[in-house]
Amino acid sequence: MPHLKVKPFSLSKIEKSSSRFTLFNAMDGHKGNVVLYEKSTDARFLDIVQKEAEYLIKPNSITRGADAQTLKKILEEFAQMCELDVIHSNTQSNLNKPKLASEYLKSIEDFYDFKTEFEKVKVEVGFGSARHLLYRAAQEPETLFIGIEIHTPSINQLLKQIALQGVKNILVLNYDARLLLEMLPSNVLETIYVHFPVPWDKKPHRRVISTAFVTQALRALKKGGKLELRTDSDNYYVYALEVFSSLLKAEFTVSKNSYIEVISKYEERWRRMEKDIYTLSLYSLEESKEERMELNFDLDKISLEDIKVPRESIVKSDFFVHFGKRFKSDSKKGFVVECSFGSFTMPEKKIIVANEEKCYYLPSKPVKTRVNQKAHNLIKEVLNG
Ligand SMILES: C[S@@+](CC[C@H](N)C(=O)[O-])C[C@H]1O[C@@H](n2cnc3c(N)ncnc32)[C@H](O)[C@@H]1O
Repeated sequence: MPHLKVKPFSLSKIEKSSSRFTLFNAMDGHKGNVVLYEKSTDARFLDIVQKEAEYLIKPNSITRGADAQTLKKILEEFAQMCELDVIHSNTQSNLNKPKLASEYLKSIEDFYDFKTEFEKVKVEVGFGSARHLLYRAAQEPETLFIGIEIHTPSINQLLKQIALQGVKNILVLNYDARLLLEMLPSNVLETIYVHFPVPWDKKPHRRVISTAFVTQALRALKKGGKLELRTDSDNYYVYALEVFSSLLKAEFTVSKNSYIEVISKYEERWRRMEKDIYTLSLYSLEESKEERMELNFDLDKISLEDIKVPRESIVKSDFFVHFGKRFKSDSKKGFVVECSFGSFTMPEKKIIVANEEKCYYLPSKPVKTRVNQKAHNLIKEVLNG
């Protein structure tokens, strides 16, 4: 990560340097300073970590973003504008790690208005080693497969295989599968594979299968489409049976030790141990209505007097809101506050800027999911007092 080590300097230099940099000081008894860099559409924070003999200046982790070149330029501009005495800097070196860039690696935002030229679309949730996903994609070149994983090494592994094998029909997403489904249009999927989900016996709320997930799955599946769950866990099997049975209208089949043509490393191990494997196939029985929820992540302009943000996290059954450090500027009215919120597995981390003109999230608005909307509504309530 690009950073600068500089000799201690008077922070008042920042305000005098350029209108692009605004100094903020920690509030509520906290220590620390951040600098807001603003230039037309770009805005980032820099952290100033003060030590006796030197100050460390580094991009703030929330607004950092992925582009090391831009961050280097901002740091260099900062050092120049404030005439800092640089002891050490790595902004000249090549910090761009060779990353696995791939046109097949998608972000969750790419699914906001999902459309495809492919005739059929299938999803695999938690593909792990991706043996099953790669096999299916090779067997069905006319089908688009969307592979979703939260484990980054598995994602990188699959991207390597996609490049090596020249696969053209897999899109890869590093996100919580439970949040993707609600974004997809209705009646678009042929199949959703959920093979050997983590049982989470001690934290059942983290399970992929739940009534909410299954309801969204049935909506996103075409009429006749199938959600295929395979599990080696007796507990998960019983739990899934309960979830499927609690649906108002459902048709599902259950089989034990029925084998499929390709098995994952994971399944191979259970078979060697002669463990029972259950397959539950849940079918979508009817066309579903389109269910687009209007999501809005604008923040209202707020009164800047006496705003108090709770120090304790606010935890609800399916989301949370946590306000971190607050900072204020001597030159500009208002404050900025660190805030994490949303789902427990894919929390959003943002900085909220509240000034005389407006209130907004940096570096960008939250991902458009229902839990983020709930969290955002709560944030608005808190900010509006
Ligand atoms: C036990 S492994 C099974 C992997 C693979 N399906 C197989 O059969 O070998 C479960 C996988 O699900 C992934 N996973 C767990 N929760 C997930 C979620 N909410 N969304 C997407 N992937 C998830 C894990 O990272 C892990 O790779």
